[in-house]
Amino acid sequence: MKTIIFSHGDKGGVGKSVVAALLVDMALQRFGRASLIEGDAKTPDVFARYQDDPQVVKKMISLNLAGDAATAVGGLAEWLENENPDEHLVTIVNLPANAGETLDGLVDLIIPVCTDLGYDVAACYSLGKGAEASLSLQQSLDNGLLSKIHESRRMIIIPEFAGTRDSFNYTNKAVAEKFLYEKTVLPKLAPVPTADVIFRSPGAFSTMAKRKPEGFGVFQAHTLKRWLKDCFVALDPVFPEPPALHDDMVDGERRPYE
Ligand SMILES: Nc1ncnc2c1ncn2[C@@H]1O[C@H](COP(=O)(O)OP(=O)(O)O)[C@@H](O)[C@H]1O
Ligand SMILES: [Mg+2]
Repeated sequence: MKTIIFSHGDKGGVGKSVVAALLVDMALQRFGRASLIEGDAKTPDVFARYQDDPQVVKKMISLNLAGDAATAVGGLAEWLENENPDEHLVTIVNLPANAGETLDGLVDLIIPVCTDLGYDVAACYSLGKGAEASLSLQQSLDNGLLSKIHESRRMIIIPEFAGTRDSFNYTNKAVAEKFLYEKTVLPKLAPVPTADVIFRSPGAFSTMAKRKPEGFGVFQAHTLKRWLKDCFVALDPVFPEPPALHDDMVDGERRPYE
């Protein structure tokens, strides 16, 4: 079954783009191809990362058009219906900051459209730290995007790089118990200079060791490999296939394009 995965989350800087880039990477490793909708026209970093990858079919659709969310959702639906190759099993949507404000009111449109087009709908929600961030997540769970996605298909991500699990306001709230089982910690890529080299280099993470960008040596290669493996395990539940995780998945070999 085709799957569409939204990388949603709190305001800027919580790791939504990194999660989306990882999901595209996983799809490439598993299926040899991926589709990407870059919803953040202001910071189209995931689109830029896969710009030169012919195995990623890409489309830029601004998904935070204040006051004109219906046009954005229409564009998304049209692209999924007419342009997205049928054989692409995984489509990733990178959502911009504040996507909730514009999209949450239209979830009763987005989700049925995706379902009617034959997609299984999943979402990752990267959590922010403060009380306000807990509220945003709660709103999404109550009546936003997450409210319309089956609980087994939505995942709350705690970005370890932003702080320890306990430092997130949401994890200390009683209501969090209800969603405990679907939380996952996205591992931090460290040290910072290594993370900088890796995040700055374009292309899939898992083939980076082969490209050897500037500043990327043996230490960076092994740091990336460890991190990637843990990230793939963390994100595995939103993927359509049963786990097929092997060490060699992060060594730059992709499944052949069929
Ligand atoms: N897993 C991670 N480990 C270390 N740093 C990270 C990680 N994910 C994100 N970051 C840092 O946070 C910054 C913002 O992440 P990004 O994915 O662009 O957030 P968003 O899309 O939510 O604005 C990145 O440029 C990077 O420096
Ligand atoms: Mg982003």
